[in-house]
Amino acid sequence: MSSIPLSNLDSVLTSTDKAKGLPNQHYISEAVFEEEKEAILFDNWSAIGTGKDIPNPGDVKPMNFVGMPIILVRDSSGDINVFQNTCRHRGMILIDEPTNISGVIRCPYHSWCYDLKGELCATPMVGGTDTNSHESINHQELGLFEIRSTVWQDIIFVNISGKAPEFNDYASKVIERWSEFKEPLYHGGKNSSFSLTLETNWKLAVENYCESYHLPWVHPELNVTSSIEDHYHIEEMGCFSGQGSH
Ligand code: FES
Ligand SMILES: [Fe+2]
Repeated sequence: MSSIPLSNLDSVLTSTDKAKGLPNQHYISEAVFEEEKEAILFDNWSAIGTGKDIPNPGDVKPMNFVGMPIILVRDSSGDINVFQNTCRHRGMILIDEPTNISGVIRCPYHSWCYDLKGELCATPMVGGTDTNSHESINHQELGLFEIRSTVWQDIIFVNISGKAPEFNDYASKVIERWSEFKEPLYHGGKNSSFSLTLETNWKLAVENYCESYHLPWVHPELNVTSSIEDHYHIEEMGCFSGQGSH
């Protein structure tokens, strides 16, 4: 694909009081989305889920992360591992719905099996109907493709390209800001969740969530219990932004 000319972003990348919004192409162009996918979502640490969604050893949850099929796995030591959800034999999707696995991850196509750390551990009949090994099939080299991942405040982050700095360096300012909170926070209780399906460019949703200006007009009922005066904006140029309320 030829590289499209990215817009000049000088008027965007300036102090908040002078900055303009991103040009339209950044919200509607498939080509810009493809560039952003690599440069922002894959080259950095992206949050993709929470540990509480796979609470028990053996819990496995498949996901599609901007076109990449992946699985979140809680192994028998309680650690969370993230893998590509594709078999190393012929690329079959391994897991198609959340489940708990007491033994191994078995590919539905030719039954190659992987343990919960992604190691290939069985290749039935790969050397003929009476043998489960073959000189060309080296189990050590054919484990699941692991995706670099880490967990902070029970949020699972992945760095698909493997190029990002260590998470603790990358996110040091946000980690410091939240250091007084020792436990993951779930406002509705330990198992609470909500999900939203949005038909919009991902940045529009993030940007909306970072401002409270629209509150009195769009959410008048919320404004009664959580008034606009109680909201404040959190901005660390180049690092993070968001909003909080008292
Ligand atoms: S594709 Fe998975 S075992 Fe063949
Ligand atoms: Fe067939």
